[in-house]
Amino acid sequence: MTGSIGMSISNQQGKLAGQGKVPRHIAVIMDGNGRWAKRRMMPRIYGHKKGVVALRETALACADLGVAYLTVFAFSSENWRRPPEEVGFLMNLFLRVLAVEVKRLNKHNIRLRIVGDRSRFSSELVYMIESTEAATAANTGLTLTIAADYGGRWDILNATKCLIADHPEKLTGLDENDLSPYLAMAYAPDPDLFIRTGGEQRTSNFLLWQLAYTELYFTDLAWPDFDRKALDQAIAWYLSRERRFGQISEQLTSSLPSC
Ligand code: IPE
Ligand code: IPE
Ligand code: MG
Repeated sequence: MTGSIGMSISNQQGKLAGQGKVPRHIAVIMDGNGRWAKRRMMPRIYGHKKGVVALRETALACADLGVAYLTVFAFSSENWRRPPEEVGFLMNLFLRVLAVEVKRLNKHNIRLRIVGDRSRFSSELVYMIESTEAATAANTGLTLTIAADYGGRWDILNATKCLIADHPEKLTGLDENDLSPYLAMAYAPDPDLFIRTGGEQRTSNFLLWQLAYTELYFTDLAWPDFDRKALDQAIAWYLSRERRFGQISEQLTSSLPSC
């Protein structure tokens, strides 16, 4: 569903965060960088550079609003299929962003986590990932997770392998709670709000397990154009949804306190 609520709710949001109404966890597919650049007669990599600016602004806005977790899809398991020059540029950009942004992350009390398969990254990038995670580990504000060489199928398969290695006796009789601690995002609640920019309406192998009951919001805005106003609109749309988790409306209202 495409969000259409145009009202800005930023003034209300400090209060809403206090009441636990702002989504605790927002997951974003930052899509549309290449097409954004192409429309401007620029190379695709220009769009990726601008995408970093949009990510910085979105992370700071989420921190400001009291969102606890922001998880962004930066590079999918399938993105290795892109032309080698673009893949090389993205890996370099990732490295540089980590090196440059660590100070800002600490200034804003943001903890950085990277999820995904690190085995295909250069040793320099793995070192930078580990040192940036360590440098921000004690921060207590927003947890910003970058999903890189991440795929939902990889995550579920990897978790299953790890669970079976730890508990071979559980091969039969597994339940959902057994697997959850082995998934890449085990440290965070499932996303409340999913945002995909760039006009496509698909999950592209992002958090397949974790999105089971997430509210899905799609916007035609390209990621480099995503800003605070667009974030407010997505959150306003989210606040208008009724999350039933399999129940019916009446069950939700009947459990509300009477005063
Ligand atoms: C998203 O933008 C960024 C990455 C996948 C790294 P795209 O690069 O997919 O941009 P479009 O979708 O081709 O416009
Ligand atoms: C999804 O975008 C991955 C990221 C944003 C990192 P893609 O642009 O790779 O997705 P598809 O190929 O259009 O589904
Ligand atoms: Mg794309």
